[in-house]
Amino acid sequence: MKPNNTSLQKILLGVSGGIACYKSCALVRLLKQQHIDVRVVLTEAASHFVTPLTFQALTGHPVHQHLLDADEENAMGHIRLAKWADHLLIAPATSNIIAKFSHGIADDLLTTLYLAADCPVTIAPAMNQAMWKKPVCQDNIRRLRQHGVNIIGPDNGQQACGDIGPGRMSEPEQICQYLLAQENLYLKDKKILISAGPTREAIDPVRYISNRSSGKMGYALAQAAEKAGAEVTLVSGPTHLAPPERIQMIAVESAEQMAQAIIPIASQFDVYIGAAAVADYRPIRVEDRKIKKQGTNTHIELKQNPDIIAAVAKLTPRPFVVGFAAETHDLENYAKNKLSDKNLDLIAANIVGQSRGGFDSDENALRVFWPGGQHTFPMTDKRHLADQLLQLIATKLDE
Ligand code: PMT
Repeated sequence: MKPNNTSLQKILLGVSGGIACYKSCALVRLLKQQHIDVRVVLTEAASHFVTPLTFQALTGHPVHQHLLDADEENAMGHIRLAKWADHLLIAPATSNIIAKFSHGIADDLLTTLYLAADCPVTIAPAMNQAMWKKPVCQDNIRRLRQHGVNIIGPDNGQQACGDIGPGRMSEPEQICQYLLAQENLYLKDKKILISAGPTREAIDPVRYISNRSSGKMGYALAQAAEKAGAEVTLVSGPTHLAPPERIQMIAVESAEQMAQAIIPIASQFDVYIGAAAVADYRPIRVEDRKIKKQGTNTHIELKQNPDIIAAVAKLTPRPFVVGFAAETHDLENYAKNKLSDKNLDLIAANIVGQSRGGFDSDENALRVFWPGGQHTFPMTDKRHLADQLLQLIATKLDE
């Protein structure tokens, strides 16, 4: 693992009760190896899986367990403990703790600390696959994401109970790397231009042609790039997402507007990432009055839109150009063709139209291709994926 050259110094690790608790011991050791000061908060349930003494020995600090314990309050009151941390990490995070966090219930030390914490929060869920898939649990996860909580995992695979599916806590090494990357300014001084969301191609004053892009992938890239120290400009088609903080945002509607916003400025950037689902075609004629129902069949004649990313790749000077490829089949072939036809430096290909990942999902998986190489990022939260992709892009910029 890379040495810790981040600003991350103090982690408050919340351990809630599940069989994955044993992995938290390995996690503490990895964080300590990075010279990070770790304090542990154990829930009542977690203390049945791993004793406080184990964590005390591993961290070199007393373990915090109770909200209303006079000794602990003297040693470090819960508000001071929350203020002390650079990052609050919950691993494992059970469905119970996730439900409490997402509804602001503060009935023990860990849930109270979550409310009091002003620092970034990351949770590593761990539970049975059926519990993870339950709509109420997914609703809670969605709420936490909306509240800005980072979610790593869970991984797919064999579970302690014998089930197979999503719910395994991410491996300690993966969690540790994720946290270090969160605080690592690996894109410092870089200017990054990102497109996101769908385009809308007007047919008449009330109708348009569009697609299922929610903007989540592009916005996640913009947020992760900003966090990694980049100066970010986001050109977005219409979405329901809040404009990300500290990011210059240009709102557009059609592919032509997106092209006009991007092509004239792209030369000023180090990287251009085309995550937007740009409509390839638009109606030849936009009627100025609502089209009336006529006959049983009708047709709309379409003409090609400008290919924005191909135009950016032709600029001099040109940024490092990263495309996306959204495919329902034959992913590798189509992605590699787009890489060469559009003269891109790198392409991130995702399967769309399935139950997990792709359009309008909080998760995604990517196969990334560049001339002479490739890498696969398995299904994970779009924010985590964005961070992984940007780290790869950063290494390519250094080459
Ligand atoms: O927004 P989400 O709901 O989170 O979904 C994410 C996503 C599936 C939209 C995203 O991950 C993705 O794949 N974006 C690209 C979708 C797409 O339009 O792919 P494409 O294979 O049609 O286009 C290839 C590349 O050319 C893309 O980088 C695209 O931005 C670019 N392009 C396409 C057409 C055009 N006229 N101009 C372009 O710049």
